[in-house]
Amino acid sequence: MGLKDKKILLAVSGGIAAYKSAELCRQFIREGASVRVVMTRGALAFITPMTFQALSGNPVHTELLDPAAEAAMGHIELARWADLVLIAPASAGFLARLAAGMADDLLSTLCLATSAPVVAAPAMNQQMWANAATRDNMERLQSRGIALWGPASGDQACGEVGPGRMLEPSDILDRVRDECFGRPLLKGRKVVITAGPTREAIDPVRYVSNHSSGKMGFALAEAARALGAEVVLVAGPVSLATPAGCTRIDVESAREMLAAVESSLGDAALFIGCAAVADFRPREVADQKLKKPVQNPVLELEENPDILATVTARYPEVFSVGFAAETGNLLEHAAAKLDKKKVGLICANDVTAADSGFNSDKNTIVALWRSSGELRQSRFGPDHKKTIAGNIIRLTAELAGWQ
Ligand code: PMT
Repeated sequence: MGLKDKKILLAVSGGIAAYKSAELCRQFIREGASVRVVMTRGALAFITPMTFQALSGNPVHTELLDPAAEAAMGHIELARWADLVLIAPASAGFLARLAAGMADDLLSTLCLATSAPVVAAPAMNQQMWANAATRDNMERLQSRGIALWGPASGDQACGEVGPGRMLEPSDILDRVRDECFGRPLLKGRKVVITAGPTREAIDPVRYVSNHSSGKMGFALAEAARALGAEVVLVAGPVSLATPAGCTRIDVESAREMLAAVESSLGDAALFIGCAAVADFRPREVADQKLKKPVQNPVLELEENPDILATVTARYPEVFSVGFAAETGNLLEHAAAKLDKKKVGLICANDVTAADSGFNSDKNTIVALWRSSGELRQSRFGPDHKKTIAGNIIRLTAELAGWQ
């Protein structure tokens, strides 16, 4: 009864995936939630209100101006009643109206009137999903705090293959439990996360570094915190705000980062090395700015400590997750790092892919781990780093056995 007494407004818009929402409704009820269903006119072409009325045990709402409903549960009451508004499936048409802030039917009006979180599980043809108009609408919705879950990739009812399938009801149920009603997967657990680049000084004004913005690591900190963890975020030089509720330690160099990580790890359950740590630092650091002409303009480098490998060697009781930023042979190199650095999970990140890797708001990750010696993998994205971060944290909790 993980959703006992939670009030879920399940909104169904027009699409063949509407049949999956009936199963979702059943699962919510089985988990102890109260469910009220709103259907758009498009949804009525795919499934009848009677199905949802029978499953939810409540009348189904379809009209904005319905005298009978206004006397009982009109749109404002419904908007106030809900702890969560979940639109599943969310059609391209409905998402466009939501992005435009329309208030021309019950569901769009209700979405404007509610103060509850709004989550949409899109479902549409893959070409419609890829269309620039849909992309723009998705950006607008996300920037307003509306969460988009999915779509998944695969065979579509229209015969095409690609991203556009609604997530399975069981996946949506898990995410509602974890992300909306905070099944605190990481409650009572301390998580140490590194993020951003390191800077290795050449002289007082110059350094060796890389393009990491810290966005991926900060998203992981936010996701871990949302799941109840105590989070220590060890950040290289980045210009991001600290996620609410996280403790931040700012560092510059790899050696400072290692010291901050070790000082925080004592009672930690999980370490995530997301930082792009400089592998090398200048052998000599000039104490004055180097002036032209430089006698010998050769920068001699020496190796930095490997923070991740140090953590797995010295703190074997801590579950460790690494990243592998690669520019070729992604899975091969990442699998080698998984084994060499002895981590429980490695997130392979092709940093040459479009809309991915360094400094992008989005990413695509292939998570690799071993189960009874066999290499396993799970692909996340392309998606916003915040969504990917949630995926990584949930997979980590599962692998670590924190269910
Ligand atoms: O910060 P963003 O702009 O959001 O970009 C995200 C990211 C691309 C930086 C991130 O997704 C990512 O891939 N981080 C890992 C970057 C990296 O240094 O990868 P690597 O393959 O060189 O290192 C492998 C692992 O060892 C990483 O977990 C790294 O943190 C760790 N490492 C590496 C070197 C070192 N001296 N110490 C380490 O701990």
